[in-house]
Amino acid sequence: MDKAKRNAVIAGNWKMNKTPAEAAALINEMKPLVEGADCKVVLCVPFVDIDAAVKAAEGSNIEIGAENVHFKANGAYTGEISAEMLTACGVKYVVIGHSERRQYFGETDQTVNLRTLAALNAGLTAIVCVGETLEQRELGYTETLLKFQTKMALTNVTAEQLKNVIIAYEPVWAIGTGVTATAEQADEGNGFVRQALAEVYGKEVAETVTVQYGGSMNAKNADELLSKINVDGGLIGGASLKAEDFSIIVKAASK
Ligand code: PGA
Repeated sequence: MDKAKRNAVIAGNWKMNKTPAEAAALINEMKPLVEGADCKVVLCVPFVDIDAAVKAAEGSNIEIGAENVHFKANGAYTGEISAEMLTACGVKYVVIGHSERRQYFGETDQTVNLRTLAALNAGLTAIVCVGETLEQRELGYTETLLKFQTKMALTNVTAEQLKNVIIAYEPVWAIGTGVTATAEQADEGNGFVRQALAEVYGKEVAETVTVQYGGSMNAKNADELLSKINVDGGLIGGASLKAEDFSIIVKAASK
């Protein structure tokens, strides 16, 4: 196993926070703090903030992502946003299948797969989220569930397209709760994801895929989590809304 084969990616997930003016201000605050980072730095922002975020990040090492994408190219889908609309606005990444979307907005493994294919076909990098609930963990289904979600999300995704896929392991019980998985639990979960990738694409390809951990990663615990062999970066919620904290996580991934 060789971590050097993979890109470290720290991505913020702002969720439903920040107006366009606030987004620009936060990015301007972050820019000098993350300059020269030895990892990719991404901020996934609400749709209405994209324009302001792309402009604010221009000329810096911060790339902008969206938090969801529809699977159809266009048509009668009131309220939805297509992959092509995102790329036309300068978006490079998109979060797909976040547990909040699975929990509150009817997202299924099948729609996660369709969104992933749409994103990849449009040239976006997909940050695909997988993760078990506390109940599933306690019943002993973590490995089965993570492997199933990973394989379902990637149905019909070619090995070539996989180069533009990041998987984020986010245990549902650790998101926004302040309860972080231990570094060992994060490493194990990410390891299950990588095993699933190896079962479909082969070990060599699986070793090149960036697998992030997400769930209450913060300035204090990032160092330990990111030191694990299978943890190639983080998907950061709460701590990505604070410039200083986010930059400390970016620095931890740059070591
Ligand atoms: P959190 O969110 O860091 O606030 O737990 C992570 C996420 O939902 O991606």
